[in-house]
Amino acid sequence: MSLAGKRVLLVVAGGIAAFKALELVRLLRREGCGVTAVLTAGGAQFVTALSLQALTEARVYSDLFSLTDESEMGHIQLSRAADLVVVAPASADILAKMAAGLADDLASTLLLATDKRVLVAPAMNVRMWQHPATVANMATLAARGVAVVGPDEGAMACNEFGPGRLAEPPAILAAIASMLAPPVRPLAGRHVLVTSGPTHEPIDPVRYLANRSSGRQGHAIAAALGALGARVTLVSGPVAIPDPPGVEVRHVETAVGMLAACDAALPADAAVCAAAVADWRVADAAAQKLKKTPGAAPPALTLVANPDILATLAAPGPRRPRLVVGFAAETNDLERHAADKRRRKGCDWIVANDVSEAGGVMGGGENEVHLLTEAGIEHWPRAAKEEVARLLAQRIAVALA
Ligand code: C5P
Repeated sequence: MSLAGKRVLLVVAGGIAAFKALELVRLLRREGCGVTAVLTAGGAQFVTALSLQALTEARVYSDLFSLTDESEMGHIQLSRAADLVVVAPASADILAKMAAGLADDLASTLLLATDKRVLVAPAMNVRMWQHPATVANMATLAARGVAVVGPDEGAMACNEFGPGRLAEPPAILAAIASMLAPPVRPLAGRHVLVTSGPTHEPIDPVRYLANRSSGRQGHAIAAALGALGARVTLVSGPVAIPDPPGVEVRHVETAVGMLAACDAALPADAAVCAAAVADWRVADAAAQKLKKTPGAAPPALTLVANPDILATLAAPGPRRPRLVVGFAAETNDLERHAADKRRRKGCDWIVANDVSEAGGVMGGGENEVHLLTEAGIEHWPRAAKEEVARLLAQRIAVALA
């Protein structure tokens, strides 16, 4: 990690976690990183400008309309001089201001004026974090490319338990370091197709067959491939998570729609099929809502097989991507089923995971996978889905090199 000579503009917003910003400053300074701190009115309730000044060895800014600041280092200039803007802790309030584009104090004004990348480390009560307003604000910010670290889950100062704790300073430091590291782009010039999420197969205009896939793993893979310089087309079924930044997203509903979108996205150098595509669809989805008639038998649904997108993409032919990766969600006999699947589908690699209850992978934040290639099977340790995605993207880069 080399942060020597880099400059971070650190916005310290309100919240009991603000004291951890001091530790973050200490870690950044130890790496040789310059820090300029901006303290919001809320932040000043929890840490003093004096402590921040002592640790940053620089002047601390808090006033939007101070004439001396405006002449020496105005709100525009503040972030121009930085390599990265970090908001830690990021309160629900400042996240809402950022999402709405408000600029009523120094912190929100510089966040609106900055031309630099922004990293936020949210910290708030679990209910505030899970409130639809905050969820929508985070989705807005993510879509604009704002990076997020945390929050962590655990016991909170307000005696509640859940996500909302500020990420630990070493984790924030690592996020800063990775954002400031020179980009390694081994996949520049490559096009990778990724499928993600479930599919919804209509029964009638209001009902559908679906599954519990969240799309988190597939979306993380798309983001990780994009971070390595690939042009990524992400074909996503209906999910509740935001589009990853820097990725072209095609939103689809059904397996048939997903196949059409994949087909339209070809040619590609590689394809990663992480979507949990429904195996069957209703043969004749009703054009009108099916009615419940008293005394009548429930409607019988006839299912027909959906196209197998992975097998279709992996089939030999001029348009076959050079590397086709499939997923195998298994509840038992993982290795044998994954090897069978690799053969049956004709793909090059299978990423196999255990989706039994004990595995807790579906919809969760972590994954424990086996990578099955022509060379054999590798067991990867359990890790955040983003980390699994990063490792897989690196392997894809090596394979396409
Ligand atoms: O056959 P099964 O669903 O177990 O295979 C899983 C793999 O196949 C995943 O990579 C999934 O994305 C892909 N698949 C597909 N189209 C289908 C069914 C599965 O692409 N209709």
